[in-house]
Amino acid sequence: MSEGLPAGFFWGVATSAYQIEGAYDEDGRTLSIWDIFCRRPGAVENGETGDVACDHYHRMPADVAMIARLGVDKYRFSVSWPRVQPGGRGPVNPKGVDFYSRLVDELLEKGVEPWLTLYHWDLPQELEDAGGWPHRDTAYRFAEYAGLVHDALGDRVPTWTTLNEPWCSAMLGYDTGRHAPGRKNFGEAVRAVHHLLLAHGLASQELRTRGVRSLGITLNMGVSSPASDDPRDVDAARRADGLGTRIYLDPLVHGRYPEDVLADIAARGAKIPARYGDLEIISTPLDVLGVNYYTSHVFKATDDPAAPEVVPQGRPVTAMGWEIVPSGLTQLLVRLQQDYGVPMVITENGAAFDDTADEDGFVADLDRVAYLAAHVEAVAEAVRAGADVRGYFAWSLMDNFEWGYGYDKRFGIVRVDYDTQQRTLKQSAQWFRDLITRSRS
Ligand code: NOJ
Repeated sequence: MSEGLPAGFFWGVATSAYQIEGAYDEDGRTLSIWDIFCRRPGAVENGETGDVACDHYHRMPADVAMIARLGVDKYRFSVSWPRVQPGGRGPVNPKGVDFYSRLVDELLEKGVEPWLTLYHWDLPQELEDAGGWPHRDTAYRFAEYAGLVHDALGDRVPTWTTLNEPWCSAMLGYDTGRHAPGRKNFGEAVRAVHHLLLAHGLASQELRTRGVRSLGITLNMGVSSPASDDPRDVDAARRADGLGTRIYLDPLVHGRYPEDVLADIAARGAKIPARYGDLEIISTPLDVLGVNYYTSHVFKATDDPAAPEVVPQGRPVTAMGWEIVPSGLTQLLVRLQQDYGVPMVITENGAAFDDTADEDGFVADLDRVAYLAAHVEAVAEAVRAGADVRGYFAWSLMDNFEWGYGYDKRFGIVRVDYDTQQRTLKQSAQWFRDLITRSRS
């Protein structure tokens, strides 16, 4: 099944701090923009929050034992900024740092390599009050935070990811308002894009000086295709790809923003607030590009060039309503290899389905097994076509807080019973464990 994957190709499972930890007000943690956003009426399905989530903060050793039993090589997790640096400024919180230090030690003891993400969307609320990502100073605060985390964990963590999906932080956070902090202003979202990239660059410099040799960023991407040959549809797909992918990767890898995207943005009255020298910082060399892939889209133009229509292709969908398009992953990886040439890792891939558990909590999730198998095969296909892909993380280790959708959407390969916090391996977890064993034999 996974023929074509290179020797040394690794397997992992992924999570993020706010989605699993809970313990939102314990041991000196301050509030993040998500703690505040969740309390806004209508922001999250059923008014749910990450206050308790999977209670991972209190169950970490058992969760790590479960991760080890899956046989994975690596575990991708994120650090909660307000837990280790309350308020986003000043000294570290020893208790917060201690949690991650123990997590890293548990992982290493069990032979699982930690893969650390510094920012998976939980900005300290105080920094949002001071202007958030549209404000340049936030980038400098982030670089300082990166250095503090490295001081504590740098001796034991080999791979460092600065940001997870900056498109979501900028566009969902500041343009559509679907994510925290829930602002709706395209101009601010564009400022956020630049300051997130600058934050990545400044933090990368900070980490490089400290000797980090495996450094990267994770982006969410898919293939954007036109619904027809009509030049208006072709342009709609170009715009979507521009604002979704090239606005990040061109500065990161080539040190410049794409002209067509700058023009699209200008037509909407917005501007990238770049200063002299920023692009050099942003294009600090990457060792690894993290790719989060879930689906691909076909676009049709409408009368508003900024709001193209997504045309459903009649393919099966997941519980998120996202079409299942494994071929898009192959296409994407081959394109990224050609246009950017940075070694890649799938940092997230997976699916929510309407799971039904039996009386023992077991879920026979054949739909999720089929989704994962098809996408692993799509990665192998891309590798055969020349893409340099080094590993694959399934999203997610366990069911968790799916942002604006709350707990109803379950992405885990392990089921979480939120009443008892019991974890039960789903069929997909068993399948993943077997795949890993087979790939080693
Ligand atoms: C990407 C995000 O990084 C993750 O937090 C989220 O749960 C998954 N997509 C699924 O939507």
